[in-house]
Amino acid sequence: MDHKNITILKIGGSVITDKSANDGAAKMDEIKRIATEITGFEGKLIIVHGAGSFGHPQVKRFGLTGKFDHMGSIITHMSVRKLNTIVVENLNSAGVNALPVHPMGCVISEDTRIKDMFLGPIKEMLDNGFVPVLHGDMVMDTMYGSSVLSGDQIVPYLAIKMKADRIGIGSAEEGVLDDKGKVITSISTGNFNKLKEYLGESANTDVTGGMLGKVLELLKLSEQSNSTSYIFNASNAGNIRDFLKGKNIGTAISGT
Ligand SMILES: Nc1ncnc2c1ncn2[C@@H]1O[C@H](COP(=O)(O)OP(=O)(O)OP(=O)(O)O)[C@@H](O)[C@H]1O
Ligand SMILES: [Mg+2]
Repeated sequence: MDHKNITILKIGGSVITDKSANDGAAKMDEIKRIATEITGFEGKLIIVHGAGSFGHPQVKRFGLTGKFDHMGSIITHMSVRKLNTIVVENLNSAGVNALPVHPMGCVISEDTRIKDMFLGPIKEMLDNGFVPVLHGDMVMDTMYGSSVLSGDQIVPYLAIKMKADRIGIGSAEEGVLDDKGKVITSISTGNFNKLKEYLGESANTDVTGGMLGKVLELLKLSEQSNSTSYIFNASNAGNIRDFLKGKNIGTAISGT
Protein backbone atom coordinates (compact mmCIF):
# COMPACT_ATOMS: atom_id res chain seq x y z
CA MET A 1 0.00 0.00 0.00
CA ASP A 2 1.30 3.43 -0.83
CA HIS A 3 1.33 5.98 1.96
CA LYS A 4 0.44 9.47 0.94
CA ASN A 5 -0.56 10.53 4.45
CA ILE A 6 -3.81 12.12 3.45
CA THR A 7 -6.21 13.32 6.14
CA ILE A 8 -9.89 13.93 5.44
CA LEU A 9 -11.78 16.17 7.84
CA LYS A 10 -15.51 16.76 7.67
CA ILE A 11 -16.89 19.78 9.45
CA GLY A 12 -20.57 19.31 10.14
CA GLY A 13 -23.16 21.81 9.04
CA SER A 14 -24.44 21.58 12.61
CA VAL A 15 -21.17 23.16 13.76
CA ILE A 16 -20.70 26.00 11.26
CA THR A 17 -24.33 27.01 10.73
CA ASP A 18 -27.43 27.51 12.83
CA LYS A 19 -29.17 24.34 11.73
CA SER A 20 -32.48 25.36 13.24
CA ALA A 21 -32.73 28.33 10.84
CA ASN A 22 -34.81 27.83 7.70
CA ASP A 23 -32.38 29.71 5.49
CA GLY A 24 -28.60 30.03 5.46
CA ALA A 25 -27.31 31.27 8.83
CA ALA A 26 -23.54 30.97 9.19
CA LYS A 27 -21.84 30.81 12.59
CA MET A 28 -19.00 33.18 11.76
CA ASP A 29 -17.23 32.84 15.13
CA GLU A 30 -17.17 29.06 14.81
CA ILE A 31 -15.89 29.21 11.22
CA LYS A 32 -13.09 31.57 12.30
CA ARG A 33 -12.19 29.42 15.32
CA ILE A 34 -12.05 26.26 13.23
CA ALA A 35 -9.90 27.99 10.61
CA THR A 36 -7.33 28.88 13.27
CA GLU A 37 -7.33 25.28 14.55
CA ILE A 38 -6.44 24.06 11.06
CA THR A 39 -3.68 26.64 10.56
CA GLY A 40 -0.24 25.12 10.79
CA PHE A 41 -1.30 21.56 9.92
CA GLU A 42 1.46 20.32 7.68
CA GLY A 43 0.10 17.14 6.10
CA LYS A 44 -2.10 16.74 3.06
CA LEU A 45 -5.60 17.70 4.04
CA ILE A 46 -8.98 17.49 2.31
CA ILE A 47 -11.83 19.33 3.98
CA VAL A 48 -15.48 18.49 3.39
CA HIS A 49 -18.11 20.60 5.07
CA GLY A 50 -21.79 19.97 5.56
CA ALA A 51 -24.61 22.15 4.34
CA GLY A 52 -26.51 22.88 7.54
CA SER A 53 -29.11 25.59 7.01
CA PHE A 54 -27.54 26.42 3.62
CA GLY A 55 -28.82 23.16 2.09
CA HIS A 56 -31.16 20.97 4.11
CA PRO A 57 -34.10 23.42 4.41
CA GLN A 58 -33.83 24.29 0.69
CA VAL A 59 -33.91 20.61 -0.33
CA LYS A 60 -36.92 20.09 1.89
CA ARG A 61 -38.71 23.20 0.60
CA PHE A 62 -38.34 22.15 -3.04
CA GLY A 63 -38.88 18.45 -2.31
CA LEU A 64 -35.61 17.51 -4.00
CA THR A 65 -35.29 14.03 -2.53
CA GLY A 66 -36.81 11.98 -5.32
CA LYS A 67 -38.15 14.88 -7.39
CA PHE A 68 -36.36 16.91 -10.03
CA ASP A 69 -36.67 20.68 -10.04
CA HIS A 70 -34.49 23.14 -11.97
CA MET A 71 -35.03 26.13 -9.71
CA GLY A 72 -34.68 24.09 -6.51
CA SER A 73 -31.42 22.54 -7.72
CA ILE A 74 -29.99 25.94 -8.62
CA ILE A 75 -31.09 27.69 -5.44
CA THR A 76 -29.75 24.88 -3.23
CA HIS A 77 -26.43 24.73 -5.07
CA MET A 78 -25.97 28.51 -4.96
CA SER A 79 -26.78 28.50 -1.26
CA VAL A 80 -24.24 25.81 -0.22
CA ARG A 81 -21.78 27.47 -2.53
CA LYS A 82 -22.20 30.66 -0.50
CA LEU A 83 -21.35 28.77 2.71
CA ASN A 84 -18.33 27.24 0.95
CA THR A 85 -17.09 30.70 -0.03
CA ILE A 86 -17.34 31.85 3.59
CA VAL A 87 -15.43 28.78 4.80
CA VAL A 88 -12.72 29.07 2.15
CA GLU A 89 -12.25 32.82 2.72
CA ASN A 90 -11.88 32.34 6.46
CA LEU A 91 -9.41 29.48 5.99
CA ASN A 92 -7.34 31.72 3.72
CA SER A 93 -7.48 34.58 6.24
CA ALA A 94 -6.11 32.19 8.86
CA GLY A 95 -3.23 31.20 6.57
CA VAL A 96 -4.56 27.92 5.16
CA ASN A 97 -4.14 27.70 1.36
CA ALA A 98 -7.71 26.58 0.77
CA LEU A 99 -9.44 26.29 -2.60
CA PRO A 100 -13.10 25.49 -3.33
CA VAL A 101 -14.14 22.29 -5.11
CA HIS A 102 -17.86 22.18 -5.87
CA PRO A 103 -19.21 18.63 -6.30
CA MET A 104 -21.84 19.97 -8.75
CA GLY A 105 -19.02 20.53 -11.24
CA CYS A 106 -17.12 17.25 -10.86
CA VAL A 107 -19.50 14.48 -9.72
CA ILE A 108 -22.08 12.32 -11.48
CA SER A 109 -24.34 10.28 -9.25
CA GLU A 110 -26.52 7.32 -10.15
CA ASP A 111 -29.59 6.81 -7.99
CA THR A 112 -28.10 9.18 -5.36
CA ARG A 113 -24.73 7.36 -5.09
CA ILE A 114 -21.51 8.78 -6.54
CA LYS A 115 -20.84 7.05 -9.84
CA ASP A 116 -17.94 9.15 -11.02
CA MET A 117 -15.90 12.02 -9.67
CA PHE A 118 -13.15 13.93 -11.44
CA LEU A 119 -10.34 13.69 -8.88
CA GLY A 120 -7.52 15.17 -10.98
CA PRO A 121 -7.79 18.71 -9.63
CA ILE A 122 -7.95 17.47 -6.00
CA LYS A 123 -4.79 15.37 -6.50
CA GLU A 124 -2.95 18.29 -8.08
CA MET A 125 -4.06 20.65 -5.33
CA LEU A 126 -2.73 18.27 -2.66
CA ASP A 127 0.57 17.81 -4.52
CA ASN A 128 0.97 21.57 -4.67
CA GLY A 129 0.21 22.43 -1.07
CA PHE A 130 -3.42 23.47 -1.40
CA VAL A 131 -6.29 22.31 0.79
CA PRO A 132 -9.33 21.40 -1.34
CA VAL A 133 -12.60 22.26 0.38
CA LEU A 134 -15.64 20.27 -0.81
CA HIS A 135 -19.17 20.33 0.55
CA GLY A 136 -22.55 18.67 0.50
CA ASP A 137 -24.16 19.74 -2.76
CA MET A 138 -26.75 19.08 -5.44
CA VAL A 139 -25.13 17.02 -8.21
CA MET A 140 -26.24 15.70 -11.57
CA ASP A 141 -27.78 12.24 -11.32
CA THR A 142 -28.30 9.81 -14.22
CA MET A 143 -31.55 8.57 -12.69
CA TYR A 144 -33.12 11.68 -11.15
CA GLY A 145 -31.63 14.51 -13.20
CA SER A 146 -30.12 15.92 -10.03
CA SER A 147 -29.88 14.61 -6.48
CA VAL A 148 -28.61 15.51 -3.04
CA LEU A 149 -25.03 14.48 -2.32
CA SER A 150 -24.25 14.42 1.38
CA GLY A 151 -20.82 15.39 2.66
CA ASP A 152 -21.11 12.14 4.63
CA GLN A 153 -21.02 10.24 1.32
CA ILE A 154 -18.17 12.32 -0.12
CA VAL A 155 -15.89 11.50 2.83
CA PRO A 156 -15.81 7.68 2.42
CA TYR A 157 -15.68 7.97 -1.39
CA LEU A 158 -12.58 10.15 -1.21
CA ALA A 159 -11.11 8.06 1.62
CA ILE A 160 -11.09 5.01 -0.66
CA LYS A 161 -10.10 6.72 -3.90
CA MET A 162 -7.35 8.82 -2.31
CA LYS A 163 -6.23 6.11 0.18
CA ALA A 164 -6.63 8.44 3.14
CA ASP A 165 -4.84 7.54 6.35
CA ARG A 166 -6.95 9.53 8.78
CA ILE A 167 -10.65 10.31 8.65
CA GLY A 168 -12.45 12.58 11.09
CA ILE A 169 -16.07 13.69 11.12
CA GLY A 170 -16.71 16.69 13.31
CA SER A 171 -20.30 17.19 14.38
CA ALA A 172 -22.02 18.92 17.29
CA GLU A 173 -22.23 15.94 19.69
CA GLU A 174 -19.40 14.35 21.69
CA GLY A 175 -19.64 11.35 19.39
CA VAL A 176 -22.29 8.74 18.76
CA LEU A 177 -24.32 8.64 21.97
CA ASP A 178 -26.14 5.76 23.66
CA ASP A 179 -29.57 5.94 25.30
CA LYS A 180 -28.03 7.55 28.39
CA GLY A 181 -26.22 10.21 26.39
CA LYS A 182 -22.85 8.54 26.90
CA VAL A 183 -20.31 8.35 24.07
CA ILE A 184 -20.13 4.94 22.43
CA THR A 185 -16.36 4.50 22.12
CA SER A 186 -16.36 2.15 19.17
CA ILE A 187 -18.81 0.93 16.55
CA SER A 188 -18.08 -1.92 14.16
CA THR A 189 -20.06 -4.34 12.03
CA GLY A 190 -19.92 -6.66 15.06
CA ASN A 191 -21.82 -4.43 17.51
CA PHE A 192 -23.79 -2.19 15.13
CA ASN A 193 -27.01 -4.20 15.22
CA LYS A 194 -27.08 -3.96 18.99
CA LEU A 195 -26.40 -0.21 18.94
CA LYS A 196 -28.47 0.96 16.03
CA GLU A 197 -31.61 1.52 18.10
CA TYR A 198 -29.78 4.49 19.68
CA LEU A 199 -29.04 6.09 16.33
CA GLY A 200 -31.48 8.49 14.84
CA GLU A 201 -31.99 11.32 12.46
CA SER A 202 -31.03 14.88 13.23
CA ALA A 203 -32.81 16.98 15.84
CA ASN A 204 -32.89 19.65 13.09
CA THR A 205 -33.73 19.48 9.40
CA ASP A 206 -31.38 16.95 7.80
CA VAL A 207 -32.27 15.30 4.51
CA THR A 208 -29.42 12.78 4.56
CA GLY A 209 -30.14 10.78 7.68
CA GLY A 210 -28.45 12.61 10.58
CA MET A 211 -26.22 10.49 12.80
CA LEU A 212 -27.57 7.17 11.52
CA GLY A 213 -26.77 8.16 7.93
CA LYS A 214 -23.26 9.13 8.98
CA VAL A 215 -22.55 5.87 10.80
CA LEU A 216 -23.92 3.77 7.92
CA GLU A 217 -21.62 5.55 5.44
CA LEU A 218 -18.59 5.04 7.68
CA LEU A 219 -19.38 1.38 8.34
CA LYS A 220 -19.62 0.84 4.58
CA LEU A 221 -16.21 2.49 4.29
CA SER A 222 -14.67 0.23 6.91
CA GLU A 223 -16.00 -2.82 5.08
CA GLN A 224 -14.27 -1.70 1.89
CA SER A 225 -10.98 -0.64 3.45
CA ASN A 226 -9.40 -1.32 6.80
CA SER A 227 -9.51 2.28 7.91
CA THR A 228 -10.94 3.61 11.15
CA SER A 229 -12.82 6.90 11.22
CA TYR A 230 -13.72 9.09 14.17
CA ILE A 231 -16.91 11.01 14.89
CA PHE A 232 -16.17 13.76 17.40
CA ASN A 233 -17.44 17.11 18.64
CA ALA A 234 -16.04 19.89 16.47
CA SER A 235 -17.98 22.47 18.49
CA ASN A 236 -15.54 21.94 21.38
CA ALA A 237 -12.59 24.28 20.97
CA GLY A 238 -9.39 22.32 20.46
CA ASN A 239 -10.90 19.06 19.20
CA ILE A 240 -10.13 19.67 15.53
CA ARG A 241 -6.58 20.68 16.39
CA ASP A 242 -6.18 17.57 18.58
CA PHE A 243 -7.57 15.32 15.86
CA LEU A 244 -5.14 16.80 13.33
CA LYS A 245 -2.31 16.21 15.81
CA GLY A 246 -3.15 12.52 15.80
CA LYS A 247 -5.31 12.22 18.90
CA ASN A 248 -8.24 9.82 18.56
CA ILE A 249 -11.39 11.35 19.99
CA GLY A 250 -15.11 10.59 20.02
CA THR A 251 -16.51 7.41 18.51
CA ALA A 252 -14.25 5.16 16.43
CA ILE A 253 -15.94 3.41 13.49
CA SER A 254 -14.11 0.38 12.20
CA GLY A 255 -14.68 -2.88 10.39
CA THR A 256 -14.14 -5.38 13.17
N1 LIG B 1 -27.16 8.41 18.94
C1 LIG B 1 -26.92 9.66 18.53
N2 LIG B 1 -25.78 10.29 18.93
C2 LIG B 1 -25.52 11.56 18.54
N3 LIG B 1 -26.35 12.29 17.76
C3 LIG B 1 -27.49 11.73 17.32
C4 LIG B 1 -27.83 10.40 17.70
N4 LIG B 1 -29.02 10.10 17.11
C5 LIG B 1 -29.41 11.18 16.42
N5 LIG B 1 -28.51 12.18 16.52
C6 LIG B 1 -28.66 13.50 15.91
O1 LIG B 1 -27.80 13.59 14.78
C7 LIG B 1 -27.29 14.92 14.70
C8 LIG B 1 -26.02 14.94 13.87
O2 LIG B 1 -26.33 14.80 12.51
P1 LIG B 1 -26.53 16.04 11.54
O3 LIG B 1 -26.64 15.49 10.18
O4 LIG B 1 -27.62 16.94 12.02
O5 LIG B 1 -25.18 16.88 11.75
P2 LIG B 1 -24.06 17.32 10.73
O6 LIG B 1 -23.61 16.19 9.93
O7 LIG B 1 -23.05 18.01 11.59
O8 LIG B 1 -24.75 18.40 9.81
P3 LIG B 1 -24.73 18.44 8.19
O9 LIG B 1 -25.47 17.26 7.70
O10 LIG B 1 -25.44 19.73 7.88
O11 LIG B 1 -23.29 18.45 7.84
C9 LIG B 1 -27.09 15.32 16.14
O12 LIG B 1 -27.05 16.70 16.30
C10 LIG B 1 -28.31 14.67 16.81
O13 LIG B 1 -29.42 15.55 16.76
MG1 LIG C 1 -26.05 15.46 8.22
